[in-house]
Amino acid sequence: MKRRTAVAAFAAVLMAVVLLTAVAWLLWPRDRADGEAPAALSPSQSNLTAHGRELVLLAGCEGCHTSRGGMAFAGGRAIPTPFGTFFSPNITQDTQTGIGQWTAEDFWHALHDGYGPGRRLLYPTFPYTNYTRISRHDSDAMFAFLKTLHAVHAVNRRHELKFPYDQRWLLAVWRGLFFRPGVYASDSSHDGAWNRGAYLVQGVAHCSACHEARNALGAIKSKDNPSGGLVLSWYAPALADSHEAGVQTWSEGEIVSLLKSGQSNSNVPGHQGSTFGPMAEVVYESLQRTDEAELRAMAIYLKSLPDIRSSSHYGSFTVSQSQHLPMIMSRGQQLYADNCARCHGDRGEGRSPAAPALAGSRIVNMSSSVDTIRIVLYGGYAPGTDSNPRPFGMPPFYPTLHSQEIASVLTFIRDSWGNDSRPVSADEVEANMTGPLW
Ligand code: HEC
Ligand code: HEC
Ligand code: HEC
Repeated sequence: MKRRTAVAAFAAVLMAVVLLTAVAWLLWPRDRADGEAPAALSPSQSNLTAHGRELVLLAGCEGCHTSRGGMAFAGGRAIPTPFGTFFSPNITQDTQTGIGQWTAEDFWHALHDGYGPGRRLLYPTFPYTNYTRISRHDSDAMFAFLKTLHAVHAVNRRHELKFPYDQRWLLAVWRGLFFRPGVYASDSSHDGAWNRGAYLVQGVAHCSACHEARNALGAIKSKDNPSGGLVLSWYAPALADSHEAGVQTWSEGEIVSLLKSGQSNSNVPGHQGSTFGPMAEVVYESLQRTDEAELRAMAIYLKSLPDIRSSSHYGSFTVSQSQHLPMIMSRGQQLYADNCARCHGDRGEGRSPAAPALAGSRIVNMSSSVDTIRIVLYGGYAPGTDSNPRPFGMPPFYPTLHSQEIASVLTFIRDSWGNDSRPVSADEVEANMTGPLW
């Protein structure tokens, strides 16, 4: 009897899945395959391959498709996600292990529709949900550039995904629910520079792939009210929230400087950004080498995002912990004086250019404490760029401070000198002890 119920339950689940798949296929998005990219502000390369190279650079293909110390574009980089670990494939011209046999049409379908030859559905870890905004002309340019790469023979490593995410066919359902292919459509209520910026931010540079929260199925949670997202163990703050990564009140120059050098070089409180973690990598690998006119267009678009200012200021902190708050604060103050003040100043005012101010820092005041925990645990560097060749670094403290001490010093800096954020617990610190690399 039990067995019969189990079989019936299994059949019901199977039916539901088949039905859902059918619905997904029915809802299969109508495509918007035509459309031109808004023109670049400075004359872009007339040579197709050179134009493609610039786009591939900004799109960060190389970073994801190259393992540490491995051959460029030959794949093998591990990308940890809540669904398991992905290993990027080889996209060099090798005909057996790379994409040497692909046509420009195949490449377009990968970028625009998220499937490979034979309609093999691709996982959205490859951010085609953003790249779908890229025009056919730009896709062909990128393909022409990839054609110039040397073939590297490197067999693709299988992804190590948990069940049921290892079932590739389930992506059909996912796509039906969350994916709408479509080239960027210019918004006539804005000028050319804004549209160019929107095309780059939403499409080529795929900023939202990190900067927006995802649901349990890995899709962007809310298109209208995007909050920041957890990525590669870091918190990527919301680009539309001026309390997080929003730059609505910044000058174009400050934004361009942040994107190009990894630091905003500003004395205005709240405009002092310094990048670290995955964002430092984006600056290092892509943005610092991007044409300044393109960065300016992105700045114009970013400034225009409606400010969603998060209200979720205080998180959960239990009463028993808050009773100990005065003790934690005074312990934190002592730890700060002993370990941090020599660089960040007695009152968190920072020591320009060696260490940023902690008083008024957005990173310190964010509701998510993940990035401050990780930077104190593992230290951090802004990326070394032409405009900032020898960035000052912050030393790692995991060898010298234990989790309760790190929680205390963070609780102290988050509630001193005008900062006003919730305390940090030792449990949160421990949850972030996942290693310095992402
Ligand atoms: C965030 C990391 C990431 C970025 C950025 C990225 N990719 Fe990928 N890419 C992946 C992963 C992971 C896969 C494997 C997806 C799968 O197995 O379904 C993939 C798959 C592909 C494939 C399919 C290869 C095959 O053999 O099926 C192509 C082509 C590709 N990427 C090209 C690019 C290009 C071109 C860019 C830049 C415009 C790019 N990728 C940027 C992670 C990335
Ligand atoms: C690989 C993931 C990833 C991508 C892609 C990415 N970011 Fe970030 N970004 C982060 C993380 C994580 C942080 C928090 C750490 C920091 O502040 O450097 C961040 C921080 C920022 C900040 C705040 C800096 C500060 O100190 O106030 C801005 C602004 C920003 N990103 C803009 C962008 C833009 C624009 C793009 C697209 C060109 C982009 N990011 C693409 C992960 C990413
Ligand atoms: C040797 C100098 C030095 C010491 C000591 C030091 N820091 Fe830092 N800190 C830095 C530098 C440099 C940065 C910028 C790193 C970057 O941009 O990647 C930084 C960044 C930070 C940030 C990110 C701030 C922001 O707005 O981006 C926090 C938080 C922080 N430090 C906290 C601390 C705490 C807490 C201590 C003591 C436990 C400490 N630091 C000790 C140099 C130092």
